[in-house]
Amino acid sequence: MTAPLIRSNFQFVIQTAPDLTERFYALLFERSPHLRALFGRRSEKAQAEMLAGALIAVIDHLEDPVWLATTLAPLGDKHRTYGVTDEMYGLVAAALLSTLASVSGPSWNPGLERAWHGALTFVATTMINGTGVHAGVSAAAPQTTV
Ligand code: HEM
Repeated sequence: MTAPLIRSNFQFVIQTAPDLTERFYALLFERSPHLRALFGRRSEKAQAEMLAGALIAVIDHLEDPVWLATTLAPLGDKHRTYGVTDEMYGLVAAALLSTLASVSGPSWNPGLERAWHGALTFVATTMINGTGVHAGVSAAAPQTTV
């Protein structure tokens, strides 16, 4: 079960670096300057608070697949309207992992990396698949539930 690992690391990270989200955006835009143009409807501070809020909400619901699906699928649809493409999720996840690792310092380890990577992959996949209600969402073929 990786949720407790993620939660305790996240708690450590936000205590150590309350400016976590600013650090994340700085790294993301340094590595991928083309992403900057997508943002800007809101102030950087408002955007940072939104990301922190989204992360905390997801972390609070890691064991709640219904909440995750019903929240993240429409959020993914909304992201398409912002111009977010599937490839961008990998860039965001990589920058977030690097930021978490650098703030965690010696407490970062391969188990934590795997736990975060798994959670972010799940979040990205759910957002990319979306609700399937919008035309042209290629990854939104009906999912078979088993
Ligand atoms: C890891 C998964 C992600 C989560 C949990 C997340 C979360 C959020 C949330 C909660 C919002 C505010 C939604 C609203 O407008 O009501 C938002 C907005 C936004 N997100 Fe994400 N996001 C994710 C991935 C991405 C990716 C990969 C990109 C691409 C670079 C991106 C770009 C944006 C943009 C451009 C906005 C609108 C900003 C603005 O209004 O200026 N997000 N995101």
